[in-house]
Amino acid sequence: MNKNIKSNLKEVPETMLWTLHNRATEAMRNDAIIKDDKCIEIYRLIDYDYKKSFGKAEPSHAVRSLLFDKEIKEFLKEYPDGTIVNLGEGLETQRFRIKEKKALWISVDLPDAIAIREQFIEPTERHIHCPLSVLDIKWFDLIPKDKPVFITAQGLFMYFSEEDVRAIVQDMLSAFYSGYLMFDTIPKWISNKTMSKKGWRKTKYYTTPKMPWGINRNKLNTIKKWSSNIVKLKEISFVFPRGAQKWFFKLFLALPILKNYAPTGVKIRFTKP
Ligand SMILES: C[S@@+](CC[C@H](N)C(=O)[O-])C[C@H]1O[C@@H](n2cnc3c(N)ncnc32)[C@H](O)[C@@H]1O
Repeated sequence: MNKNIKSNLKEVPETMLWTLHNRATEAMRNDAIIKDDKCIEIYRLIDYDYKKSFGKAEPSHAVRSLLFDKEIKEFLKEYPDGTIVNLGEGLETQRFRIKEKKALWISVDLPDAIAIREQFIEPTERHIHCPLSVLDIKWFDLIPKDKPVFITAQGLFMYFSEEDVRAIVQDMLSAFYSGYLMFDTIPKWISNKTMSKKGWRKTKYYTTPKMPWGINRNKLNTIKKWSSNIVKLKEISFVFPRGAQKWFFKLFLALPILKNYAPTGVKIRFTKP
């Protein structure tokens, strides 16, 4: 296959190639935890030295996708014509993995990110692309207000300040009448590493952007105080399929103190009173 699409992505939008690298490499394995031909196709078409920037691929982002896929599928079982909003979707191919017929999918990402997405994925009436910052609430106008919505932010909120995360969460939860918001969090130590003078150097050639918002697991419950529309907050652990990461995470999660220092998924159920 020809490698013909160049990437000029920088800063946070470039991180979509990091997650693509990890997800596609996992999807190419015989014992892969996700099946995703579209992801592999996109991965191969982009002319980018993934290994040079991000190093050897590992399954963390496929693990994350799997967690989100599972929760979205459950939502669609209950609300087959519901709305799924993917904030900061990058080159995620969730809708190709979750083959459903009636839902409305809305992808909100920065204009440069949507431009590269559209090199591979065409928007349609049921799959809308919105080239806006998530923090610009004009995208709210696209969301039907009379049916449940499932909003996802995968690998996004850590790049915002805590004030921005809180403000956009509060705005979303008061704008939409009921549904779910799911996102992943990083613990403080990872955030601190990215904010240090040296930054988080993944490789000699790539330092991750700053990730200002870190929150330890034992503080996740404080998010409930952000909005009186939050009915329930569920913490979701990452479970690795194999290798050292599997045992490392098992150990981390088994020990109450260490558990606080692991990345965690959060699913919020909300409804207007
Ligand atoms: C780590 S990537 C994650 C991409 C995708 N969710 C995934 O899991 O593969 C971060 C994404 O957030 C997007 N992003 C960063 N800041 C944003 C903002 N203010 N509004 C919308 N998207 C943003 C980037 O363009 C990029 O697509």
